[in-house]
Amino acid sequence: MVERQELIVAMPKGRIFGEALELLRKAGLDMPQDLTEDSRKLTVTVPREKLSFLLVKPVDVPTYVEHGVADLGVVGKDVLMEEERDVHELLDLEISPCRVSVAGLPDWKPVLNPKVASKYPRIADQYFREQGQQVEVIRLNGSVELAPLIGLADRIVDIVSTGRTLKENGLVELEEIASVTSRLIANRSSYRLKSRAVDELYERLGKVVEQGRVGV
Ligand code: PRP
Repeated sequence: MVERQELIVAMPKGRIFGEALELLRKAGLDMPQDLTEDSRKLTVTVPREKLSFLLVKPVDVPTYVEHGVADLGVVGKDVLMEEERDVHELLDLEISPCRVSVAGLPDWKPVLNPKVASKYPRIADQYFREQGQQVEVIRLNGSVELAPLIGLADRIVDIVSTGRTLKENGLVELEEIASVTSRLIANRSSYRLKSRAVDELYERLGKVVEQGRVGV
């Protein structure tokens, strides 16, 4: 019997991590108990499953996969939309659902060339261009909800999950741009050269996703 090839998977630290780990466990993978969201380790090897994990910033997952240092990755559709990397989107894992939305103060009024703050400058720019609206996009790396409160921007484009951050900062969701879930992505060469191992993981995860959908 031919040995299954080893796979390297880029995992996003943060909100997706726990759900992705649970999914892998449900798929029958014997993941180490000390692999947790707050672990400081950046690589974890699971020899019995022929898997290694790179624990990286969510926004960097497509970079690791595109460059082939990871064969697979788990990443939010928001990051895929923003980064536009040359990777193969294999499977909607249907975890960590949220949306990319436009938000602002409830008494927001249209102004000429409004400023829009966002961690997603490309998504924001494209959305407003499609709407025929000219805006100035200001790139931020976090705490985006602060921008309209202190006059840095008129509106924001950001992730809304529970809606708590908007609410606690007195902001309202104005328009939904896209709904988001996490995806399994593959490096284009790995997808061909390690197809057996990739297919096996894809099928195992696909079954769990399906079971979750029908509530099994
Ligand atoms: C994200 C996003 C919002 C918040 C939305 O930020 O940018 O701020 O979560 O979630 P909610 O609707 O459940 O409140 P993140 O936690 O990644 O931190 P950041 O602001 O530092 O980017």
